[in-house]
Amino acid sequence: MKRVASMAIVMALPWAAPALAQSPLAIVQTCYVCHGPDARGAAPIAPLAGLPKDHLARQMADFKADRRPGTIMNRIAKSYTDEQIGLIAETLAAMK
Ligand code: HEC
Repeated sequence: MKRVASMAIVMALPWAAPALAQSPLAIVQTCYVCHGPDARGAAPIAPLAGLPKDHLARQMADFKADRRPGTIMNRIAKSYTDEQIGLIAETLAAMK
């Protein structure tokens, strides 16, 4: 019963579903809202597609740890595990 109830919550609130349930590409698509279609940039917000994986992962880790200041990225980075950040960076780096 408890399980059915939590399933219902996940289905009713897709945004509240654990991010882990999303594929790396589905997560990356949420970046397009600000970083432009296919993460190619939407001035003044930087493009992400095709950047080196290590650079992307380091920026996300720095935002997450508040080593790099930002207006919004600190909060966004904190919503992903280190493993997800690695997968996000890998997915973006592979995009042309
Ligand atoms: C609500 C808008 C918004 C969304 C959504 C968003 N970003 Fe950002 N991103 C920004 C802004 C604005 C900056 C500049 C830093 C700041 O002000 O936080 C930025 C900067 C960055 C940078 C640093 C770029 C550089 O070269 O210096 C990276 C990496 C980045 N974002 C990755 C992501 C990833 C990955 C996602 C999706 C998981 C994402 N962003 C989603 C707005 C957004």
